[in-house]
Amino acid sequence: MKYRKIAFIGSGNIVNAMVSGIVKYGKYKSSMITISSPNNCRRNKIVENYNVIGINDNNIAVKNSDVIILAVKPQVMEYVCKSLRKIVDYRKKLILTLAAGITVNRYNEYFDDKINLIRIMPSILSFIGKGIIGIFTQNIITEENKIFIEKLMKSIGDIIWCKEEHEINNITAISGSSPAYIFLFMEAIQQKAEELGYNKKISRKLIFNIFNSSLKFASFQKDICFSELRKKVMSEGGVTEKALNEFYNGSFKQIIGKIMQNVIDKSKEMENKF
Ligand SMILES: NC(=O)c1ccc[n+]([C@@H]2O[C@H](COP(=O)([O-])OP(=O)(O)OC[C@H]3O[C@@H](n4cnc5c(N)ncnc54)[C@H](OP(=O)(O)O)[C@@H]3O)[C@@H](O)[C@H]2O)c1
Repeated sequence: MKYRKIAFIGSGNIVNAMVSGIVKYGKYKSSMITISSPNNCRRNKIVENYNVIGINDNNIAVKNSDVIILAVKPQVMEYVCKSLRKIVDYRKKLILTLAAGITVNRYNEYFDDKINLIRIMPSILSFIGKGIIGIFTQNIITEENKIFIEKLMKSIGDIIWCKEEHEINNITAISGSSPAYIFLFMEAIQQKAEELGYNKKISRKLIFNIFNSSLKFASFQKDICFSELRKKVMSEGGVTEKALNEFYNGSFKQIIGKIMQNVIDKSKEMENKF
């Protein structure tokens, strides 16, 4: 890949995950990556771990980079973008944003210019190079930029191009937020295991075994749908059936559908707010 200077604005959870994936799995030159954020603490950790450059001045980071990745919370995005207005010719830069719930048009207002913006929706699984990344742009993108972005994003997972901007909200619900649903499920099983007397270490080991092996089992039988796999664990009138009835009574699938819809609705609500 032809290396370009990348500046991350923000040094939070998702930047830590992306830098890990890009440097470790994408073998991107760490000397080409700058992280800019106000407080030393989290930034320094990323700098130490991945040997990237750290600074506390967004203007300098932007001026010295070819690619800018906006990675602050949606609540501070307007402030951050407005403070970066007009400091460089953004037509010569590629700007990526990770924020949920802020539309491309809004960034044009923030920057007071029609900028070369691409929305991407990664997940925390970028950390191990195994995320799913939604990508959307309104602009016509040059072949060179397209190749660059695809290569960069493929180092942190599988990519999905979104044709319409609202699809980014769907990707947020399906893969951006979903590691949190899975971790909550793991947490709940571990909690009960501990209540049953297994200590933290053992119950954690059990959870890892269950999730790893269930995934392996499912991937060995890729032609069998999940509901069929579930039936293989149950016998009629047995204990697992009784357990799962509790899920049905509590409308488990509806709850999952509802929480995913909540992510989409919240993203839309934010689109009107920011
Ligand atoms: N977490 C995820 O899994 C995930 C997935 C997809 C998309 N996203 C999106 O990514 C963005 C960041 O999320 P996050 O989870 O990484 O949040 P986070 O952990 O709270 O990180 C936010 C970062 O923004 C920095 N920041 C605040 N004000 C700044 C400023 N004026 N200039 C530069 N940096 C500033 C903070 O700096 P300090 O540390 O110095 O205070 C912090 O490092 C959000 O818009 C979110 O929607 C997150």
